Amino acid sequence: MTAEAILEVRDLVKHYPLTQGIVLKRQVGAVKAVDGVSFDLHKGETLGIVGESGCGKSTVAKMLVGLERPTAGAIRYRGEDITKLSGRALKAVRRNIQMVFQDPYTSLNPRMTVGDIVGEPYDIHPEVAPKGDRRRRVQELLDVVGLNPEYVNRYPHQFSGGQRQRIGIARGLALRPEIIVADEPVSALDVSVQAQVVNLLERLQSEFDLSYVFIAHDLSVVRHISDRVAVMYLGRIVETGTEDEIYGHPTHPYTQALLSAVPVPDPEAREHRVGAPPGGSRGRILLAGDVPSPADPPSGCRFRTRCWKAREVCAEVVPPLAVPEWFVGAAGPAHPSACHFAEERHVVPSE
Ligand SMILES: Nc1ncnc2c1ncn2[C@@H]1O[C@H](COP(=O)(O)OP(=O)(O)OP(=O)(O)O)[C@@H](O)[C@H]1O
Ligand code: SF4
Ligand SMILES: [Mg+2]
Repeated sequence: MTAEAILEVRDLVKHYPLTQGIVLKRQVGAVKAVDGVSFDLHKGETLGIVGESGCGKSTVAKMLVGLERPTAGAIRYRGEDITKLSGRALKAVRRNIQMVFQDPYTSLNPRMTVGDIVGEPYDIHPEVAPKGDRRRRVQELLDVVGLNPEYVNRYPHQFSGGQRQRIGIARGLALRPEIIVADEPVSALDVSVQAQVVNLLERLQSEFDLSYVFIAHDLSVVRHISDRVAVMYLGRIVETGTEDEIYGHPTHPYTQALLSAVPVPDPEAREHRVGAPPGGSRGRILLAGDVPSPADPPSGCRFRTRCWKAREVCAEVVPPLAVPEWFVGAAGPAHPSACHFAEERHVVPSE
């Protein structure tokens, strides 16, 4: 990828303090929600971030848009570390990085009209508010996201889930940002509506020259929209690569397990799906146990308590997110994987 990196995230950390006592609060630990995350976002691309519930995806999203302050690390937007900015400089940068939220039912104020919701960002950033007819500008935005501009005076409850998410997207576009961080934008929607919203986001991306960080639980949701994918587990990225590298040549056991949970519609392909560890059936990798608490993550590799390949070294040494040695110099899909024993395993037939 030759496009410039408009966002460079380096060693991003968010620890939420755990306190005890009511009057004299003592810190007794920390929830390590995000614990050393690095990635680049290139101009015009979509980076998918995937992982199970609680792995820190929303916390990353909130730090990118300035809703949470990082405990440590840097977020460089066009070369400038926005975690160090405040006041007017921070506000100017925030305008360019907007968020679309997961739940269109709770993220829209039920007492505001659609016109007020979509136009609200102009109250916060009057410097980019349309000079003349603001209502017209809002109606244009509704039109762009496929809603009837006549609906400008209606309230959120008068819309379906998919339409509400379009309202959220219109609001995200109002300030003409460069980057949109979409935190599970389709997870709360019916499957039939999900594709429509994803298609809309794809169309808007080329129309408005946007770069996306697109967050999802499920690898299948981000597949078609993502140029690159980062897989997260317990506050860290465990594998990252292009669509082909992640889906066609996954090397981290966690990625392989997530992929094996993706339904394969063709029964013959399903029979040939390989990669089952002991206990798996028909190629499906069944992970044992729950995700450990981020307040007390396992030593070494955080995935080791659920990994069928874990050995002693996994408890002692943190595997770095790096291109495995056997990949270096080899022709083929070399991409970083945070596993001491990274190896390719074909889990899902490539399309
Ligand atoms: N304000 C907070 N205070 C304390 N802990 C928090 C706070 N916000 C999030 N956490 C914890 O941080 C961890 C990561 O949460 P986060 O919401 O980022 O996960 P997620 O990957 O977005 O999950 P989901 O898929 O369920 O949305 C969780 O264990 C969560 O309980
Ligand atoms: S480092 Fe060890 S425990 Fe972690 S994913 Fe690799 S094999 Fe499994
Ligand atoms: Mg979340």
